[in-house]
Amino acid sequence: MIAIGSDHGGFKLKAEVMAHLDSLGVEYRDFGAKSSLSSDYADYAEAVGKAVASGECEAGILICGTGIGISIAANKVRGVRCALCNDCFSAEMSRRHNNANILALGERVLGVGLALRIVDIFISTGFDGGRHERRVNKVMALEQ
Ligand code: RB5
Repeated sequence: MIAIGSDHGGFKLKAEVMAHLDSLGVEYRDFGAKSSLSSDYADYAEAVGKAVASGECEAGILICGTGIGISIAANKVRGVRCALCNDCFSAEMSRRHNNANILALGERVLGVGLALRIVDIFISTGFDGGRHERRVNKVMALEQ
């Protein structure tokens, strides 16, 4: 189960991503926004971040205008490793090296085709482990 959320700046791309996940048969839960009215990205980052950190959802996708605000906010939630990836290489490496559990996207930065490709890469790529596990563990220890 993927947790998904956006503010108004990511609302249209969220709809595209949800339609894409439907076409792939991938289950998701939409944490809002429920309309394109102006709203605050921190609210959706908190909801999706908590769903992922608690284990209720395996991974998350967050979208705002640039992806910046919503990724900064999500990374304040303990247990979250949110990666802002506006290209395919970063999406692959965020999983392989950083074990990112939330992908952030910028609707005002990306075309829909590239955004959906980034989503595909994020949800289909695993963590390499090994030396990267030690590094990720050090990152998570910074939360203490
Ligand atoms: C909203 O206008 C915009 O600031 C927000 O979606 C995001 O880009 C913030 O980082």
